[in-house]
Amino acid sequence: MKILHDREKCIGCGACVSLCPKYWEMKEDGKAYLKGSELNPEGKYQLELKDPECNQQAADSCPVEIIFLVK
Ligand code: F3S
Repeated sequence: MKILHDREKCIGCGACVSLCPKYWEMKEDGKAYLKGSELNPEGKYQLELKDPECNQQAADSCPVEIIFLVK
């Protein structure tokens, strides 16, 4: 499965980092970064994972709903 992050729209609330620090970290620009992800042609950061682990909680908790889990 894929985890997608529309990083441009991140408001830096930090919920993803608190709930899922294995995969999320805060960067100097005040936005979260999905560790190991790469920018895809649609402008979203993308990471392939077998098991979403805590990314489901991160997606559910993001106030601007910019974390997507895609099968
Ligand atoms: Fe940004 Fe949402 Fe995380 S606003 S800091 S991606 S919870």
